[in-house]
Amino acid sequence: MRTSQPQTIYLSDYKVPAYLVDTVDLRFELFEDGARVHSTLELRRNPESDEVSAPLELDGDSLTLESVALDGAQLAAGDYEDRGDQLVVRSVPEQFTLTVVTWIEPQNNTRLEGLYKSSGMFCTQCEAEGFRCITFFPDRPDVMARFRTRSNGNDVERGELENGRHFVTWEDPFPKPCYLFALVAGDLVEKRDTFTTCSARDIDLRMYVEPRNAEKCDHAMDSLKRSMRWDEEVYGREYDLDIFMIVAVDDFNMGAMENKGLNIFNSSCVLASQETATDLAFQRIEAIVAHEYFHNWSGNRVTCRDWFQLSLKEGFTVFRDSQFSADMGSPTVKRIEDVTLLRTAQFAEDGGPMAHPVRPASYMEISNFYTLTIYEKGAEVVRMIHTLLGPDLFRKGSDLYFERHDGQAVTTDDFVKAMEDASGRDLRQFRLWYEQAGTPVLNVSDDYDADKGVYRLTIEQSIPDTPGQTNKKPQHIPFALGLLGQDGQPLPLKLGAGEADAPTERGLELTEATHSFEFHGIESRPVPSLLRHFSAPVRVRYAWSREQLLFLMSHDPDGFNRWDAGQRLAVDVIQSLVGAPDDAEIEPRLVEAYRKLISDTELDQALVAKMLQLPSEAYLAIHRARDAVLRHLAGALKAELIACYQRHQGGGPYEVTPEAIARRSLRNTALAWLLMIDDQEGRELAVSQLSAADNMTDRMGALRALVNSGFESDRQQALDEFYDRFKDDPQVVEQWFSVQAASDQAGQLPDIQRLLEHPAFDWKNPNKIRSVVGAFAGQNLAAFHNPDGSGYEFLADQVCRLDDSNPQIAARLVTPLTRWRKFAPSYSARMKSALERIRDKSGLSRDVYEVVHKSLAD
Ligand code: PHE
Ligand code: ZN
Repeated sequence: MRTSQPQTIYLSDYKVPAYLVDTVDLRFELFEDGARVHSTLELRRNPESDEVSAPLELDGDSLTLESVALDGAQLAAGDYEDRGDQLVVRSVPEQFTLTVVTWIEPQNNTRLEGLYKSSGMFCTQCEAEGFRCITFFPDRPDVMARFRTRSNGNDVERGELENGRHFVTWEDPFPKPCYLFALVAGDLVEKRDTFTTCSARDIDLRMYVEPRNAEKCDHAMDSLKRSMRWDEEVYGREYDLDIFMIVAVDDFNMGAMENKGLNIFNSSCVLASQETATDLAFQRIEAIVAHEYFHNWSGNRVTCRDWFQLSLKEGFTVFRDSQFSADMGSPTVKRIEDVTLLRTAQFAEDGGPMAHPVRPASYMEISNFYTLTIYEKGAEVVRMIHTLLGPDLFRKGSDLYFERHDGQAVTTDDFVKAMEDASGRDLRQFRLWYEQAGTPVLNVSDDYDADKGVYRLTIEQSIPDTPGQTNKKPQHIPFALGLLGQDGQPLPLKLGAGEADAPTERGLELTEATHSFEFHGIESRPVPSLLRHFSAPVRVRYAWSREQLLFLMSHDPDGFNRWDAGQRLAVDVIQSLVGAPDDAEIEPRLVEAYRKLISDTELDQALVAKMLQLPSEAYLAIHRARDAVLRHLAGALKAELIACYQRHQGGGPYEVTPEAIARRSLRNTALAWLLMIDDQEGRELAVSQLSAADNMTDRMGALRALVNSGFESDRQQALDEFYDRFKDDPQVVEQWFSVQAASDQAGQLPDIQRLLEHPAFDWKNPNKIRSVVGAFAGQNLAAFHNPDGSGYEFLADQVCRLDDSNPQIAARLVTPLTRWRKFAPSYSARMKSALERIRDKSGLSRDVYEVVHKSLAD
């Protein structure tokens, strides 16, 4: 609990640690009413530190200190100071052994940091600063030690405790930072498999789950093996231990954690079966398993010097897992998904009060910096390096990085340096991507000189101000483009008049505030295809005509830009309808474009499925106009939608392949559209799909369509039956909560209140909170932004309530309110007052304090 105003921590204050830890010996005594932790540290002064007489200061949080001994002798009360958040020993020799005994209460740990209990099992979460909740320790990633762990008189690090309880940690031969420490003990079943590495070593793969989940491990296990193979083939990275373990826990603040040799997962990010998990969940699980596995090199073998460098491991690892997912499925579809997340959520973060650089310069609470900017924009930054260097030099760079820094705790600068050294490219200006916050804006204009056959593009870049940063310098931006001729053919891009064999796509590089490029030998005014593959995380402004967008939608050879053109067209149409009368005409060419798409059986169906998804409300923030367009499209295309639905029905036994996923996605999109207009045929299709479904994707597709329809009695019946069938499965109940909370039909505030009182709701379980409160405030924009402000007050209430039990989750829930400045005055005033109410709560956690104060700052 906070006692004084939270301090700001600055990157510029970084100092090497005064003491190093060589080994950590931990012994856990686990009881019903608490746990005793015996920690023996071998310490020595750091020769690199200039603080030659610094006292020993160890971090602690919520610990009861029982005893301290130095080189075997118990210290008397005057020899050390227990400051609560620090244990200070003033005089210590050059090298010594410190034994500290602490008492902790895992059963009362609702913050889920350190050692806690989740449905009867003990588990740990130490990133970023959770290890200090277990014992006093220099809790910073640049202190790396060898760990050894025992429990309740049991000498083995993993094995059976009495009556079939498993106890697992890893006695790690590699020194590691304490944030990678993990321990699990509970009644778990073990699933085994093996993987043979490229050098023919057999790795023991094990999953530990609660007995009722024994049948939900196969997908994660297969994903793990695919990840291990892929990292060998694409990055030359072999696994380094002889065992790799995955544990599923129900109560977890985040998705999963890459603890060395013992990854711990949120159950919802690892357990799957045909009956209980949607296609989206299958894909997410594959990606997260890969992500955590890839951390073994990008994060664990090479780790972060300090938490300002978080994107060193997260940005790089997200980039790696997105390459992996692209290789496992459709690269275009994966790119569309990543860009959608970036543009809807990261751009909003980058334009709001919590905007920060990929390498932040300061923070109050590091848990607040596990953000889309660190993860997703960080991955885009690595992707741009990949684009600038090309795949071969990038691989050379990553090899050099891993070789040069193996076993070290390093900085994003070290990463870029390795890329520079391996490639010979100068990335000095490129480094601004790590230092400057905000989404760059590219204003693109063009003109065409018919007489000379020259087409000129002018690109101006600017970067908006963000908190604490103004007058930013131009960044180094890779800009991929193509030009299409009137017949839809890609044109050769001749930058000089005489150039022969010019390519039809180019990766230009922008480094100045303004650039002009001239393309020669262009016979008629071309249509530009800009920022192909989304080659940089920027906003492109260009005065597209609807004509041009329609043209790109059907001709652009870059699938990503085809999709993007469709999105821009839909946004343009939707925006033009804001405030228009209900019977306003809706662009007929949009209807025709969608008609063509729905009936297109030639185009990659996965891409079609994506193109049929209108830009999300979160992206547009215009509910009514989007709704109107959707209803109009559904009404005009009814016959095509039913044909599309039927075309994609059946298709043999359930499979999780890109083709099968696309089929289900198209069918369920068609169904959702039909029910938007309360179509009777659609209703019958949904009801029968719901009863015939042999998988969760189809079941959920039908349920969602009914929930969002006006067929109230079908909706209620469907929800009740669904709950009855799945009430014993927490992961499915979470989906059941969120499909209601995110729906403006079923998720008005009184409905949300009822969900909170539902017996399956649990204030201690982050997934439940996210699936009701998070889904309501983040996805159900119509209900959340009720003009009377009730949605905001509701959210403020929940944040205050959670602030005491789980500050990390509370701080995350505040996000929708932090955007208050973007709304019309009557809304923003109410959002602001909800924030002020949170600010005034007594004993506010550091986590929520930081978000709320930064949001309210002028
Ligand atoms: N490091 C984890 C990941 O990205 C995320 C995480 C952070 C989990 C903090 C728990 C706590 O893979
Ligand atoms: Zn990660």
